[in-house]
Amino acid sequence: MAKDSLAQIDHSHVEEAYARWAPFYDAVFAAVMKPGRLAAAAAASGAGRRVLDVGVGTGLELPMFTRQTRLVGVDLSEPMLRIAQKRVAEAGLQNVEGLVRGDAMNLSFPDAAFDCAVAPYVLTVVPDPHATLDEIARVVRPGGQIVLVNHIGAESGPIAWVETAMGKASARLGWRPEFPWAVLGDWIDRRPDIALAERRKLAPLGLFTLARLERL
Ligand SMILES: C[S@@+](CC[C@H](N)C(=O)[O-])C[C@H]1O[C@@H](n2cnc3c(N)ncnc32)[C@H](O)[C@@H]1O
Repeated sequence: MAKDSLAQIDHSHVEEAYARWAPFYDAVFAAVMKPGRLAAAAAASGAGRRVLDVGVGTGLELPMFTRQTRLVGVDLSEPMLRIAQKRVAEAGLQNVEGLVRGDAMNLSFPDAAFDCAVAPYVLTVVPDPHATLDEIARVVRPGGQIVLVNHIGAESGPIAWVETAMGKASARLGWRPEFPWAVLGDWIDRRPDIALAERRKLAPLGLFTLARLERL
């Protein structure tokens, strides 16, 4: 399935969806998506590293990085960011340099500003995953890394049918259940400066996939 056949999502839908989700987000999604956040933080953490957390949401992954990792979070949703700010203050996360409202497809950071970018559970919710990846790659320095965690949809069979049907409700859900690996694979193929360093399934039940990319 090509990127063009993905269900359409736009920013206003995403903002509405996450304004609705924000008060319940942690209760519903903290546990089930925790292994992916831990894996992303472990892959990205490093002494003195400056890491951009794209789509930081309520900041559930922020305490999972080492305290020597300097973090900047960006998200489109004010209500989600407010919860992240509260979490940072309550946990005393002094390594968080800033949490800013912004669009992953048009980041306000200069080129090569970060050693690493993580985007847990974000590519499935942005209107244009390739534009988002281009922008993330722009702000990561050559030699740096991009760590993505997503549910990768089934390519065929009954689960693919269900995910495609659910995809029709994407706008209301705020994410796409159907998101084939080819969307990421096609982007990597057309970027000579990006290499896939690691791809592995994560708990629970291999539902989510971590992809670690290197900016050459
Ligand atoms: C499924 S949540 C993931 C949040 C967090 N990374 C986590 O692991 O819980 C997706 C987040 O991406 C944000 N988001 C969606 N589209 C965005 C965009 N274009 N730019 C920045 N953030 C965006 C949403 O507001 C939401 O907070």
